[in-house]
Amino acid sequence: MRDVAIVGVGCTKFGEMWHKSFRDLFIEAGVMALDDAEISGVQVEALYGGNMSSGIFVEQEHVGALISDYSGLSTSNIPSTRVEAACASGGLALRSGIIAVASGYHDIVVSAGIEKMTDVGAEKAIDALASAADREWEAAVGATFPGLYAMMARAHMHEFGTTREQLAQVAVKNHYHGSMNPRAQFRNSVTIDTVISSPLVADPLRLYDCSPITDGAAAAVLVPADRAREFTDTPIYIKAATQASDTISLHDRRSITGIDATVVAADRAFKIAGLQRADIDVAEVHDCFTIAEIMAVEDLGFFEKGTGGPATLDGETALGGRIPINTSGGLKACGHPVGATGIKQAVEIVEQLRGEAQKRQVHGAEIGLTHNVGGSGGTVVVHILSR
Ligand SMILES: CC(C)(COP(=O)(O)OP(=O)(O)OC[C@H]1O[C@@H](n2cnc3c(N)ncnc32)[C@H](O)[C@@H]1OP(=O)(O)O)[C@@H](O)C(=O)NCCC(=O)NCCS
Repeated sequence: MRDVAIVGVGCTKFGEMWHKSFRDLFIEAGVMALDDAEISGVQVEALYGGNMSSGIFVEQEHVGALISDYSGLSTSNIPSTRVEAACASGGLALRSGIIAVASGYHDIVVSAGIEKMTDVGAEKAIDALASAADREWEAAVGATFPGLYAMMARAHMHEFGTTREQLAQVAVKNHYHGSMNPRAQFRNSVTIDTVISSPLVADPLRLYDCSPITDGAAAAVLVPADRAREFTDTPIYIKAATQASDTISLHDRRSITGIDATVVAADRAFKIAGLQRADIDVAEVHDCFTIAEIMAVEDLGFFEKGTGGPATLDGETALGGRIPINTSGGLKACGHPVGATGIKQAVEIVEQLRGEAQKRQVHGAEIGLTHNVGGSGGTVVVHILSR
């Protein structure tokens, strides 16, 4: 297998993009990534597009062909493949592109992610998202994702004494980080009081404990590591790209106070990379709800199980803390266009490792990690990236 590098990244602004179509969004992100790598579209040998639910959100399927066509690549006849794993679709598109380059099958690959969610009403969007749970045993009886993660939060609070304030601090921190990110959907700073007095969604989770409904796209250009300097002076190398699965429904899990697929994917990633948890300088983790970030920092091995809440409240996961988590604002404040999130996480880490994250910069960052979850943990993708 060959080593792989990221030589170009692009990401649209996230939010309610009434004035941009699904096609506009992925073309914008793709062109930014190609410009960043200083290559033209005709050099691209394969495309992987992460997308969860365009059939429901914009009534468009066959997204692989659409992306290649509207990127002006139909006459090149390159392979263009849609990748779907619910909210982990972007992370999986990145991993698919990495495997394609590592295997020697292709040299220049674009992995992208796209979702346009706000063209339908909230009720339809929430039902589309619920199709990533077990439709027969969870969604059909009303267990939407806020409901499922609320159960995880209650169990975590019961087992480890995690408090309402600790959950809220995840949102406070991520809104603070998002306030410094020009791409973020929400750039307002909030307090613990704002979070715990916001409208109840699924007890104990409130509006500010939830990631929003978002439009957006992101893209990354991948090449063999030994060719990376043909394209950029600042290649970012893939040290590991791992994936793990678990039961799709929450009630079949060994435990609901963590996500076992995260533990497995992280263990595999650190083993492949030959690195320790303490080597990670910055991480983007899947904070679809505040409890999800607390479980993630524990399951990834950054903090002992049950101590993610106190560590968050103590500022250990904020910029300037022991391990800055979600400097982009995370899913909570930067936004969560589900199919694009995994690629956006990689874009943020690439910018951090290049030293281009401006006010959000983690000084001296050399190694970063991304963690992308599908559903309530049925799929998890972890990447470790290095300067
Ligand atoms: C939380 C949620 C139910 C709110 O939806 P909603 O009630 O329809 O919210 P609206 O779009 O009507 O927005 C109402 C207000 O809240 C704000 N808002 C919406 N979602 C927000 C969020 N997650 N955090 C903070 N503010 C939010 C809006 O900007 C709007 O503010 P305004 O009145 O000042 O313009 C919805 O965002 C949701 O379902 N989130 C979870 C998504 C999800 O499950 N993703 C997959 C995870 S696995």
